[in-house]
Amino acid sequence: MADKPVVIGVAGGTGSGKTTVTRSIYQHFVDKTILMIEQDYYYKDQSHLPLKERLNTNYDHPLAFDNDLLLEHLNDLIDRKPVKKPVYDYKLHTRSDEVVHVEPKDVIILEGILVLEDQRLRDMMDIKVFVDTDADIRIIRRMMRDIKERGRSIESVIEQYENVVRPMHLQFVEPTKRYADIIIPEGGQNLVAIDLMTTKVRSILEERSIM
Ligand code: C5P
Repeated sequence: MADKPVVIGVAGGTGSGKTTVTRSIYQHFVDKTILMIEQDYYYKDQSHLPLKERLNTNYDHPLAFDNDLLLEHLNDLIDRKPVKKPVYDYKLHTRSDEVVHVEPKDVIILEGILVLEDQRLRDMMDIKVFVDTDADIRIIRRMMRDIKERGRSIESVIEQYENVVRPMHLQFVEPTKRYADIIIPEGGQNLVAIDLMTTKVRSILEERSIM
């Protein structure tokens, strides 16, 4: 069997730049096979609930995620087995009927607001990263994205931010910074941090004779 893939966890608040960091690492490994897993795709299936109830769900609480399924898939990918990754619909607030067939790869990046919150997930990671960006920048990014891509209004974004996203961030997301090996200020703009990360990933790949 081939050696164990390198698993990198990238956490951080909403709008912190997790995806930009993940993409920057990805670009450094065009020569390698690398896989991105979004924790958001593993929100619990809520298709049995009416839309009104789905709208009122707290999506920033650890219990909103189906981490059991995520763990099962990560274990399979680490064992070099393919998985059927769920797809999430932010407009309908539930899992869609689609699944994506995902092949195992040498590097797996697991990205999401609460990937460092669950010890079982942390234990699977070789490198734990927290992207640390000021709250004012994060809310501006969140507002633009949710209106453009997730079918939300300004009012709904502000209401959700004040009542749910901010308190949950302070209670659950921010404290996971303590588990990070690397804290990256200002996410994807931080080229030095991205460079250090990629060097570390390469050295683990070499140690495991994957490169
Ligand atoms: O991409 P990002 O890290 O911002 O995604 C996490 C955010 O998605 C959470 O802060 C949560 O409030 C939001 N979310 C949402 N509606 C859903 C599912 C997640 O607004 N149905």
